[in-house]
Amino acid sequence: MAEAGLCIAIDGPAASGKGTVARLVARRLGYRYLDTGAMYRATALAAREQGVSWSDADGVAAVARQLRFDFRWSGTGLDVLVDGRDRTRQLRAQDVGEGASAVAVHPPVRAALVALQQAMAQDGGVVMDGRDIGTVVMPDAPLKVFLTASAEERARRRWRELSDRGTRVPFGQIVAELEARDHQDSHRKAGPLRQAGDAVVVDTTGLSAEQAAARVIGIALERGARLPDHP
Ligand code: DC
Repeated sequence: MAEAGLCIAIDGPAASGKGTVARLVARRLGYRYLDTGAMYRATALAAREQGVSWSDADGVAAVARQLRFDFRWSGTGLDVLVDGRDRTRQLRAQDVGEGASAVAVHPPVRAALVALQQAMAQDGGVVMDGRDIGTVVMPDAPLKVFLTASAEERARRRWRELSDRGTRVPFGQIVAELEARDHQDSHRKAGPLRQAGDAVVVDTTGLSAEQAAARVIGIALERGARLPDHP
């Protein structure tokens, strides 16, 4: 009988390297990857397109309940399809990230997306990254990782990511925006960014994504994950 594989929860603040590390781990173990931040981003984007204010909790929750998500590996990484349309690039925009953080404070929005995430995790063999994965979405996951990195290192990574896409933003502005987002994500009542009591902390300051992923894969193997026969 084929083994389903573990559920691996990866949480951490903005630009801690969660997405890159989670993708590498999923690829190596042959697991599915679920980017829950993309779901909050897609909800914010769809709300704006439908003229629903980000502060309208019930209105945004209704938008979230209607979205259909597909995640697909591509040559450059992972494509996010929302209602069948590839929205990968738009979802990464700075203002959409701020919108995601704004809509993520609403309990009915979180309830809608958490239910979807839990359904997607049901069969195991999944790596999921976000803020509340180890605490709320998969509290029984056999491997929970909390990724951290110094504020300066995270700002440097975000600056590089933006300048690779041709967007020049002053470094100080990036630091301020990251701090504001972390504050909002950590201080909301519903599903705040919080380290699960049984999470393994991996500080990625000074580590490459490959090095951080190798640590997570090492722990996953200790906890019963198996490398696929044909990676
Ligand atoms: O990881 P990210 O930057 O793509 O996430 C965007 C925002 O979505 C983040 O600021 C907070 C919110 N979010 C959340 O509240 N819970 C999650 N599981 C994932 C993201």
